[in-house]
Order: sequence, then C-alpha cells, then structure tokens
Amino acid sequence: MNTTTTTQHNQEQIPDTERRDFLTQAASMLGLAVSAGTIVSLVNACEQPNTTGGSGGSGSSSTGTLDLASETALQSVGGAIRTTINRAQIIVIRTSQTQFLALAALCTHAGCGVGMPANGVIECRCHGSRFSAADGSVLNGPAVMPLRSYRTTFNSMTNILTINLA
Ligand code: FES
Repeated sequence: MNTTTTTQHNQEQIPDTERRDFLTQAASMLGLAVSAGTIVSLVNACEQPNTTGGSGGSGSSSTGTLDLASETALQSVGGAIRTTINRAQIIVIRTSQTQFLALAALCTHAGCGVGMPANGVIECRCHGSRFSAADGSVLNGPAVMPLRSYRTTFNSMTNILTINLA
C-alpha cells in the first residue's frame, strides 16, 4: 500500500460535512494569516522614515514648510490649523502678522489629541487639561507639562512658514 492510496482511502472515510468544516476553517485561518501579513506590512510601511515632509508640509525630516497662500486659516492673526508634518501632529497659530506658534497637538498628560484653540485655550477632552493658546503652557491639569512648541521661521516675501521639528 502506498501513501497516495492511503490518503485517498482516508479521504473516502471522512464525511463530507467534516471535510467542508475543515476546509472552511482552513480558509478562515488563511484569511487571518493574510490579514495579519497585510497589517504587518502596513505597520512596517508606517515606520519608514518620511523625508518628504508629511501630509501638511514639505521640507527635510526635521523641518516642514507651509505655503500660507494655500492655508487660508493662517492668513489672518488668530487663525489656526491642525496639520501633520513628518508624522508629528501640530497646531499652528498665527499670533501676529509675522509671528506663528507651532505646538504639538498631543496632550502631555496621556497623549490624547488636543482640540483646536478657542478663546485662547487649547483643551484636551480626555481628562480636561487646558493649555494656553499663547504659548502652550498648562492652565489646568491633570497635565503638568506644557505642549511642546516648535521653532518657526516666516518668510514674508515668499509667504512660507518653516517649522523646525528638531
Ligand atoms: S490625556 Fe489630556 S488630559 Fe489626560
């Protein structure tokens, strides 16, 4: 008796319902494996260094630029936007004709995304921390550390705002 014959014999002994169940489970596991593989690929892709500046700007990996000609909210003093530069979530606020404030948009308490500035305050809805929209300092805890601020440089001739993430 050879293996092929034995295998065929065993298949003949397996009822159709058990074979169908086995194939369904195998297909399900294969689908799970593909999904897990896809997820791993996506995670790896997300971890690749981005040297083009992210979705909200351009520049080197440590700087990002915003063309204010296309950022209408930043064309007037007091305007603000939320953007992502090199995977960093940032809130940019125009504080004067030539001055801008760039703050990390993640709460220093437990890392929730903070809201947009309103009446001079940036609030985190997770646990109620409040930060000053003038400088990112803590107005109310539980956060104790201010929002991280990034150095900005504005070129009024080109209308380009450069944000240094270093
Ligand atoms: S994460 Fe913002 S207050 Fe807790």
